[in-house]
Amino acid sequence: EKGGYASFMLKEIAEQPKAVADTLLGRIDAEGSLTLDEVRIPVSVLREATKVVIVACGTAFHAGLIAKYAIEHWTRIPCEVELASEFRYRDPILDQRTLVVAISQSGETMDTLMALRHAREQGARVLAICNTNGSTIPRESDAVLYTHAGPEVAVASTKAFLTQLVACYLVALYLGQVRGTKWGDEIRAVIRDLARIAEDVERVLETMEPVRELARSLAGHDTVLFLGRHVGHPVALEGALKLKELAYMHAEGFAAGELKHGPIALVEEGLPVVVVVPSPRGRSVLHGKIVSNIQEIRARGARTIVIAEEGDEAVVPYADHLIRVPVTPTLLQPLVSTVPLQVFACELATARGNEVDQPRNLAKSVTVE
Ligand code: M6R
Repeated sequence: EKGGYASFMLKEIAEQPKAVADTLLGRIDAEGSLTLDEVRIPVSVLREATKVVIVACGTAFHAGLIAKYAIEHWTRIPCEVELASEFRYRDPILDQRTLVVAISQSGETMDTLMALRHAREQGARVLAICNTNGSTIPRESDAVLYTHAGPEVAVASTKAFLTQLVACYLVALYLGQVRGTKWGDEIRAVIRDLARIAEDVERVLETMEPVRELARSLAGHDTVLFLGRHVGHPVALEGALKLKELAYMHAEGFAAGELKHGPIALVEEGLPVVVVVPSPRGRSVLHGKIVSNIQEIRARGARTIVIAEEGDEAVVPYADHLIRVPVTPTLLQPLVSTVPLQVFACELATARGNEVDQPRNLAKSVTVE
């Protein structure tokens, strides 16, 4: 069943272009608009929503963190993202005009289920983003947008994550479309970019050999740090989570701007630090700032592993290892920049002799609170 791959995880990483394309299938019409008829929440409710609250755990939570940038940018609706396990214990402010989005691959995660039950009790509408047909979370939600990743067997989530991102972008763009924000032209352009993104994921997969080599060379290290800004921050968190769960290494993700507020004290000679660099186009201020961050850590001895867009020359002098990803609109970059981090963690774990499909102490779906 592994289709010739050494692990389900490798197979599922390789399936990502198809998973992404399948999740878009039938959702973009001939005119380039979104049709999400399956989202059975009346358009009037979506138009009048005053707040979006996303609840999820683990990797799905990271998808939610990225969704916040997209939702707030394209719709101007305030969006909160909360760990499902914390949500109901803090008496969150919810009402009929709150749209809650529950993200879950399995649809059976108890923390997420309890969060959505709490939200519905307070009168909020719940939209599930889920990969498993007929599972409990979609059954208990007002509506569901299914991701079409196909069954994900490996404990570490990969293809489900990419499709959760696609679904989140679809929700953000759809909300923008039905509410008619000032970003109409940008929304149409992004829908066109999204329709092509599976090819970019494929291109990333074709260039992963140097990443595997690099991962093997780091098998003896104890710690790897991950830095990012903007949507690159959740990508850094996801890269660190993958490394923890698979390689059992100390891995932490930080917002690069926070470095000087503490984490930079961790940097010592030879410490591998992965930096996710935003596009130099569009949000160029951020790009300049992260280039300075790379210089700062390198001056303190870090071994810099830089993930940057093709054609971004500014990072070259400061990158000990450079991983290129295709030119992508800033908000969509996580779809390509996450992939090398998955490959990196999988290869590093294998080099350390770990079983990647069944990491110790973990279960594929966590059905206890
Ligand atoms: O099935 P879910 O998406 O609700 O699962 C949420 C987390 O348990 C899951 O993403 C977990 O963090 C993965 N092992 C990450 O690779």
